[in-house]
Amino acid sequence: MNYGTLYGVGVGPGDPELITLKAVKILRHVAVVFAAASTRNHYSLAVEIASPHLDRGVPVAHLGFPMTRDKKVLADAWAENSRKVVETLKDGNDAAFITLGDPLIYSTFGYILEAVRKAHPEIPIKIIPGITSYQAGAAATGQILVEGEGSFAVTTGIGGGGSLKQWVDHADSVVMLKVYRHYKEILDTLNELDLTDNSVLVSRCGMDGEEIVWNLKDRDDTPPHYMSHLIIRKKRWISSP
Ligand SMILES: C[S@@+](CC[C@H](N)C(=O)[O-])C[C@H]1O[C@@H](n2cnc3c(N)ncnc32)[C@H](O)[C@@H]1O
Repeated sequence: MNYGTLYGVGVGPGDPELITLKAVKILRHVAVVFAAASTRNHYSLAVEIASPHLDRGVPVAHLGFPMTRDKKVLADAWAENSRKVVETLKDGNDAAFITLGDPLIYSTFGYILEAVRKAHPEIPIKIIPGITSYQAGAAATGQILVEGEGSFAVTTGIGGGGSLKQWVDHADSVVMLKVYRHYKEILDTLNELDLTDNSVLVSRCGMDGEEIVWNLKDRDDTPPHYMSHLIIRKKRWISSP
């Protein structure tokens, strides 16, 4: 079988100018562009970000993924989605799967990568890195994430604030993605660790409605937008904002 190449392409955090030249080149070359979308509304932010760079007429296929944590339902959906991707590659066509930020950081591309590699190790896969949300967040807030002998950790708020305790013990700064669902619990943990004043909330970075909240105590505890993350520095902020 003459398979084309599957490209995992990071489109960056939201600002269409924060996409790499290489990503644009690949997007203009492939036969099909795939993107994950909710099965509820088929909306894909990655497509919105990439669209100024797509040639008119290139087919954009939304791969539905169910909003569930049921592992079996998710695994079945991704097996089916991977089959669709492989079908496209069969005639030697190249295809791109686009994702927000970087394709290897908390990305739906991970499911496709694993499933395609497992079922068809002969299919060539190339990954085009993207600027991550937290790199854009660090730039927007003007804060150094890590320097010198230091270390920083990237974690998720999906399981609540618990992991923060563990990470702040080991890293000089911590980035927490996906903070919307358990926001109140995460705030409580920050208070408990006396880190509220060392935390900044970055929402919709580089997009319409961008919001940067330096003083979390001034904001109520309603969940922020899905596109939000926290940057937590154990040291004080570099300069007062
Ligand atoms: C599925 S993860 C995608 C991460 C992405 N692959 C990356 O490299 O940053 C989605 C989470 O990334 C963060 N995120 C993505 N884009 C963002 C943006 N423009 N502003 C703030 N946070 C963002 C939010 O925490 C969101 O819940």
